Amino acid sequence: MILLKNINVTYPSLEKPILKNINLHIKTGEWVSLVGPSGSGKTSFLKVISGKLDTVEGNVIIHETDINGLSAHKRHEFIRRHVSTVYQQFRLLPQFSVLENIMLPLIPHENKKRIQSRARELIDEVGLTHRVTHFPHQLSGGEQQRVAFARALITDPSILLCDEPTGNLDTNNRDIILELLTQIHKKGKTIILATHDEIVAKKGKNILTFHEEDVHKGEVVL
Ligand SMILES: Nc1ncnc2c1ncn2[C@@H]1O[C@H](COP(=O)(O)OP(=O)(O)O)[C@@H](O)[C@H]1O
Ligand SMILES: [Mg+2]
Repeated sequence: MILLKNINVTYPSLEKPILKNINLHIKTGEWVSLVGPSGSGKTSFLKVISGKLDTVEGNVIIHETDINGLSAHKRHEFIRRHVSTVYQQFRLLPQFSVLENIMLPLIPHENKKRIQSRARELIDEVGLTHRVTHFPHQLSGGEQQRVAFARALITDPSILLCDEPTGNLDTNNRDIILELLTQIHKKGKTIILATHDEIVAKKGKNILTFHEEDVHKGEVVL
């Protein structure tokens, strides 16, 4: 469960908050879409939930813990356990293989053999069994994004944040990612996904619309 109470987000260089007085309850297992033009605050909203902003006012309650009240270190640890993010640009590390990229988030924390077997299961789940030893530059965009999803899932997060995950993909690869998201959703994970694609947005049970003019007024109220 995610509960946002009286959230205001201000960037140090800006005078007014770009997200203002947001109150929202996202139930466990929900799939929520975020839509709205570039600059309307979607990425900032996702960063509130992944604890990446230091200038958030209000309560960001995830599974009964207010992460905005935690020290930076404790917040990082909490997020690492419960929340993963997938990005438009995939963000794989070029010097590592598919298997290694997927293993990375757990390397400092768990036994390597166990991580490796979990990573291999995820590679099978995302349909890349034939690409285990490949490097990112040897993969198509769609394949790279599937690696990024496997990497996001290796920590078994309850919340998956997706920031325009199909923005760089053709419709065929978009549909593969949508099918993958459907499987992830069936497993009970909460999905919060920003997109410009109406077909992707409609997969969410709730659609939150961000309006650019509100940002300029200094008030996105959901
Ligand atoms: N680090 C930052 N410092 C200052 N302003 C920022 C920063 N990040 C985003 N913004 C501004 O906040 C607004 C919302 O941006 P963002 O959340 O990235 O929107 P979206 O993801 O919908 O494109 C924009 O006006 C953007 O320029
Ligand atoms: Mg964005």
